[in-house]
Amino acid sequence: MKILVTGGLGYIGSHTSVKLIEAGYTPIIVDNLYNSKKSVLKRINEITGQQPLFYEADIRNKTDLKPIFAQHDIEAVIHFAGLKAVGESVKKPLAYYEVNVYGTITLLDVMSEYQVNNIIFSSSATVYGDKNPSPFIESYPTGNITNPYGWSKFMVEQCLMDLQKAEPEWSVTILRYFNPVGAHPSGLMGEDPQGVPNNLMPYISQVAIGKHGFLSIYGNDYPTKDGTGVRDYVHVEDLATGHVCALQKLNQSGTHIYNLGNGSGNSVLEVVSAFSKACGQQIPYKMMPRRAGDIAAFWSDASKAQKELNWQAHYQLEDMAKDSWRWQQKNPTGYPDEE
Ligand code: NAD
Ligand code: UD1
Repeated sequence: MKILVTGGLGYIGSHTSVKLIEAGYTPIIVDNLYNSKKSVLKRINEITGQQPLFYEADIRNKTDLKPIFAQHDIEAVIHFAGLKAVGESVKKPLAYYEVNVYGTITLLDVMSEYQVNNIIFSSSATVYGDKNPSPFIESYPTGNITNPYGWSKFMVEQCLMDLQKAEPEWSVTILRYFNPVGAHPSGLMGEDPQGVPNNLMPYISQVAIGKHGFLSIYGNDYPTKDGTGVRDYVHVEDLATGHVCALQKLNQSGTHIYNLGNGSGNSVLEVVSAFSKACGQQIPYKMMPRRAGDIAAFWSDASKAQKELNWQAHYQLEDMAKDSWRWQQKNPTGYPDEE
């Protein structure tokens, strides 16, 4: 069964493509290489023994997409492609709305034309905004979002729900990821941030490898267990499996929304401690003021995914730290340009 994976060379898309192959699906990857490298394909091959078909194509461009749909009998689309840096989205909102919202609408239009009515969409816990108490449940109202990236996810969710209402044959699955971290246990695939990472785990990894002198911890006066921010970290391998589980909803039209998270929170200091253990050295850190726009703590209620998709996160924080560190050590400068 052919599954079109947009953004399939990226962090979550590459891990999902491996799981798809392992589950017997045929992923077809579409990516414009904006935030990824072609060498990911060889890594997928090294892990699975199969190299997925790849099209260098832009989701905003119908002339890129149509021949792919014309040539293949595509059963469903897993849609990862997009821009994801929160801070950048505040500075370049139109770029975020263009790629994430207009790009998705373009993709949906082409899907409609070729009667492919099944989509799984990468959304984010950011759509819950900063007013809901944890654990976040899928039925909470969304909104009160503080940045254009988050609003772009909110808007795409709305487009998908409206489309499904108008054309009931559609099957729409919206997956709201919490904080994806970790890497493939082989050390062959992982997160490859461009420039200085904004997110916690990749920054700690780069401190451990010596690229930065210390970690800045943004706030130790939050009303949390140790004063530092609390998040629901979920291993990218678990997330990838979540997409394979979501494919089982394919034959059920409707809109299905699921949180993908561990269902519990860890503080920044707990992440630092797990990583220090994984890499065998103390991660140096300094306490800094809070980061603008941060929420003290949030985590998921992931029981709906467990009940309906038979999915549950298995990896613990220690595994996430170990796998991130293995990837970082084996690939200190990320993926090579060519392999
Ligand atoms: P990523 O940047 O590693 O992967 C996205 C991929 O999409 C990249 O390979 C990039 O080259 C490609 N892409 C970007 N614009 C494109 C375009 N116009 N046409 C075709 N391809 C394009 O990001 P990721 O971490 O793997 O995230 C995947 C999805 O999950 C994104 O939609 C992101 O918003 C969402 N998400 C990510 C996180 C996270 O923390 N990583 C959390 C919640 C949601
Ligand atoms: C961020 C995004 C969110 C996205 C998520 C994906 C913001 C406001 N939100 O969430 O939309 O879905 O990434 O993983 O950017 N921290 C430090 N020092 C650092 C980096 C982070 O102390 O150098 C702290 C943060 O204050 C926070 C925790 O670590 O308490 C996690 O931060 P981060 O990895 O950036 O994720 P989020 O802020 O949850």
